[in-house]
Amino acid sequence: MRRTATRRHYLMVRPTYFDVEYSINPWMDPKKPTFTEVAVAQWEWLRNLYLELGHRVEQLQPRSGLPDMVFAANGATVVNGQALVARFRHTHRCPESAAYLRWFREHGYRNVRQARWINEGEGDYLLAGPRLLAGSGFRTNTEAHLESQEFFGMPVVGLTLVDPRYYHLDTALAVLDHDTVMYYPKAFSAGSRRLLEELYPDAITASDDDAAAFGLNAVSDGRHVVLPQAATGLISQLRERGFEPIGADLSELLKAGGSVKCCTLELRAGQTEGPRRGR
Ligand code: ARG
Repeated sequence: MRRTATRRHYLMVRPTYFDVEYSINPWMDPKKPTFTEVAVAQWEWLRNLYLELGHRVEQLQPRSGLPDMVFAANGATVVNGQALVARFRHTHRCPESAAYLRWFREHGYRNVRQARWINEGEGDYLLAGPRLLAGSGFRTNTEAHLESQEFFGMPVVGLTLVDPRYYHLDTALAVLDHDTVMYYPKAFSAGSRRLLEELYPDAITASDDDAAAFGLNAVSDGRHVVLPQAATGLISQLRERGFEPIGADLSELLKAGGSVKCCTLELRAGQTEGPRRGR
């Protein structure tokens, strides 16, 4: 099967102040050393890859004292030029929201507001064709799902996460194109698993090892799928299905429980051509 890439528009935040200073997920161990310059080099590689693939990449300026800000996916959900900005669960990350609100307002988005309910942006919301898949269980709460449905005017399908290692939906499921996904079944409740089987009978499912390598934290443009290089099983399954997997080494960012997708917020249409900042 022939896969077609479409040009994407991403927002990223350089890990200038990256560190693991606290622990809000099981991957984070503040006692382990981190190397910010390695994180920056790995992140630069990812940004350059997107540019080489023909995508547009915007940058939002990092702030000191916000070591998790590199995980841009959590800042908002953007569909059709409308941006619903995150309300973080943990106080450590709460100040990030103001930076996103400002960025979207300054860049001509027509409908921008912060979510009322706890909502960690594209960490827990993944656009899959006509619907938004929405995670809950660890961060985003279920009231937020209804709020998002109302804000975007599109169906939101709630999925319950049950394994603390896969605390955001984007650590357990990746959207490959409008009707194809890959996911780790054991990260979901029994009901959510049945729902996923019903919606996506042809989905790629991940092994324990591939999930633990953070292989589901992937970004697809419909053809190229960027994912952690250690997820070798997923890489071959993707190839068999006609995708072009590209292995990434973001080992430094994994110390904070994040990888490719966490670093990438997709901006979907509706943006007026304003000044380009932070290049
Ligand atoms: N340390 C961050 C946190 O726990 C990692 C966020 C990863 N982002 C994601 N989209 N899964 O909030």
